[in-house]
Amino acid sequence: MKTIKNITCIGAGYVGGPSMSVFAEKCPNINFTLVDKNEEKINSWNGNIDNLPIYEPGLKEIIKKTRGKNLFFSNDIDNAIINSDIIFIAVNTPTIKEGPGAGFGADLKYIINCAEHIAKIAKSDKIIVEKSTVPIKTAEKLEQIFSKKNSSVNFEILSNPEFLAEGTAIEDLRNPDRVLIGGNKSASGQNAVNILADIYSKWVSKEKIITTNLWSSELSKLASNAMLAQRISSINSLSAICDKSGADIKEVSKAIGLDHRIGKYFLNPSVGFGGSCFQKDILNLVYLCKTYGLDEVAEYWHQVVKMNNYQKSRFSNKIIQKLGQDLNNKIITLFGWSFKKDTNDSRESASIFVAINLLNRGAKINVYDPQTSIEIIQSDIKEYSSNYSNILDSIKYINDPYKAVIGSSCVGILTEWDEFISLNWKEIKRIMIDEKFIIDGRYILKNIEEEKITYL
Ligand SMILES: NC(=O)c1ccc[n+]([C@@H]2O[C@H](COP(=O)([O-])OP(=O)(O)OC[C@H]3O[C@@H](n4cnc5c(N)ncnc54)[C@H](O)[C@@H]3O)[C@@H](O)[C@H]2O)c1
Repeated sequence: MKTIKNITCIGAGYVGGPSMSVFAEKCPNINFTLVDKNEEKINSWNGNIDNLPIYEPGLKEIIKKTRGKNLFFSNDIDNAIINSDIIFIAVNTPTIKEGPGAGFGADLKYIINCAEHIAKIAKSDKIIVEKSTVPIKTAEKLEQIFSKKNSSVNFEILSNPEFLAEGTAIEDLRNPDRVLIGGNKSASGQNAVNILADIYSKWVSKEKIITTNLWSSELSKLASNAMLAQRISSINSLSAICDKSGADIKEVSKAIGLDHRIGKYFLNPSVGFGGSCFQKDILNLVYLCKTYGLDEVAEYWHQVVKMNNYQKSRFSNKIIQKLGQDLNNKIITLFGWSFKKDTNDSRESASIFVAINLLNRGAKINVYDPQTSIEIIQSDIKEYSSNYSNILDSIKYINDPYKAVIGSSCVGILTEWDEFISLNWKEIKRIMIDEKFIIDGRYILKNIEEEKITYL
């Protein structure tokens, strides 16, 4: 088997950054180069260790050990391609905005750009690894690009989807439940599968490295995210019944989860899932079903996203019911901007939708989150609201939870950051004005008996 010396990853984001860091930690004899078209991002990966572009527990400690030794961040994409035996593609695959598939399908333009670029530059054989989440048959599209644009080099395409969860990415990468590698059944395809499996085997046990055909691997990632999101929407649908009936969703969740056939994970009620993956991947699955003529299957999965949107509206509607339709001159404080704890990622975060809904009714919003900034908040509002020019001045970031609630009628908890539990909630209520209404969309204050707190 060929000895691999250099590996490149295109896309230094939430997947590329942490995954190549753990590869570098576990494989000291291989050089890993992360490249990105975003120069600023590469500069900050190379800059101050306390100011990396991604916040992830344990990440900076690995970067400290490996950066400049066998982990490199570079803007020189061409050189990285030429010098590598294996190229991971970990670029974004957002939902298509316009044209066929708009609102559902995955936009593969960034992946296609990478393939065209690699085909143009490569002078020796390469293994190309799909790390990004992609629809079934993407590998076929890549194969067509390579054979059309550079027939003198052999490109072997593998699918190796990433299952890390933000907030626990380093732990997930060091101890994955499984590593999935899909490849062609040809001899050279199987050789490429074995080369990648051999690299993972430096720290992952053989039973956890699963090899499949390309299409099973591509579909398994979408299916996995759809099943996880489905559990969240299921428990959230039950939280709406609890709210009407007096049943307690935390008690129901525990009672359900103790059944070993169901299990306790992903049964926490919340304001709905966020993040860059679940919604886009389910919509992508819905689109795939529709293109295969499977309308009932498409509708089944679409309902998971619709339920999620309902849950986000239910949260803001509860605030509106309590404070009135006209929120002019009311201050509402949101605790949590990122879509979950232990990450600075706010893509598709429920907080954005709740904030926009309340801002549109005249409210003033204060946000406290340990990992956000006014720049991130404003850029999220701009991306998701066409009315942003009228509401942008009404939202503030205040980097102190006690100062953030001054003059507030309502505090809404949207992210389950651990530090929120240990805040002095009596003191927070004292600082707030009039209604003093606390709504916990994450059910994290359930054990704080003395406070009157509303749940979703
Ligand atoms: N974020 C997650 O938790 C997660 C988990 C598993 C899988 N995924 C999947 O992994 C992929 C990447 O997700 P992410 O969250 O890391 O995205 P991201 O937006 O954080 O990072 C993608 C990076 O790719 C760069 N890029 C795009 N086109 C490029 C090009 N042609 N050349 C060089 N760089 C280019 C962008 O500048 C960006 O920095 C997506 O398909 C996503 O669905 C994400």
